[in-house]
Amino acid sequence: MIQSARVEAGRHDEIEAFFREIFTTDNPLITEAVKRMLAAGGKRLRPRITLLAAQAHDANSQRHLQLAAYMELIHVATLIHDDVVDNAQTRRGVNATAIDYGNRISVLAGDYLFAWIFKNVTALYPPPIPNILSATLAEICDGEVLQLRSLGDLSVSLNAYVQIVTRKTASLFAASAECGAIAGGAPTGDVQALRRFGLAYGIAFQMRDDLLDVTADAAALGKPVGNDLAERKMTIPLILALQSGGGEFRGMVERLYAGREQEAAAVLEGIRTSGAIERTRAKIREYSKRAEDAIEDLENTPAKAELARLAVELIEEAS
Ligand code: IPE
Ligand code: IPE
Ligand code: MG
Ligand code: MG
Repeated sequence: MIQSARVEAGRHDEIEAFFREIFTTDNPLITEAVKRMLAAGGKRLRPRITLLAAQAHDANSQRHLQLAAYMELIHVATLIHDDVVDNAQTRRGVNATAIDYGNRISVLAGDYLFAWIFKNVTALYPPPIPNILSATLAEICDGEVLQLRSLGDLSVSLNAYVQIVTRKTASLFAASAECGAIAGGAPTGDVQALRRFGLAYGIAFQMRDDLLDVTADAAALGKPVGNDLAERKMTIPLILALQSGGGEFRGMVERLYAGREQEAAAVLEGIRTSGAIERTRAKIREYSKRAEDAIEDLENTPAKAELARLAVELIEEAS
């Protein structure tokens, strides 16, 4: 039965229909702002991972579509807030919510959406799913605060970076996998394995996102590139470039982060020529492999194979 199950690929029609036709809140302005961001695009990775984790044990993944949709909505609320915090102009190829609605409405829309999601999840799902999701939101905020406090701090280590991204990004991937597995009735060992998959996947995913901020094209990415340097973030390519670069490179970064914006091009060039891009790719490979290894002992199903493929895709896309 499981072998014949359809493997989820990309956007799932029923989830998109839920966003388009069923999703609404009691506040029309907030509903409009959120629907606009949902309609703008996005890779839908978190709901995909929830469905695949459920599908690894329960071929009837249709039952879990709504849970998967809530994972995407949590993600969208964090993005609305993140773009306020990061002063980002675009998201998913359109104006960031704060550009069209202002920071004040964006903060309230994100808060409202979180409360709306938790109200519904608590009514619909038994513990520990609501508990996992509320703990995850606390972790995301914790990670974003830790990141803010380390802005411009050139002494941030790779280890400290991994702690931050584990909280701000990997925690939601871990929760998406874990809650999907729980909803699918997986045994405890498999639930934990899928959670570990999500954590390692999420760390690799954020490393790749940091890399794309240095290497990608803004139009293809649908969001600004170079914004991390502009915001004085300590991303993995920069941390690795500082580790191997000499005093001259460090001086350029210090001047950029002290406000000399004209240093940005030289810092970018310094990151590119330092070997940090290749070393970031090696780290992405390491965490992608950890993700694959985490689910090694799961029964071989198409869902497990697809999760492993998603982990490998992070390496390919970042190359
Ligand atoms: C963006 O996530 C935020 C990060 C954790 C880097 P995605 O890259 O998954 O964004 P969408 O959903 O595809 O827009
Ligand atoms: C991820 O970090 C943000 C969240 C987990 C909310 P980024 O700030 O790098 O994400 P992007 O690059 O804006 O999508
Ligand atoms: Mg951001
Ligand atoms: Mg980013």
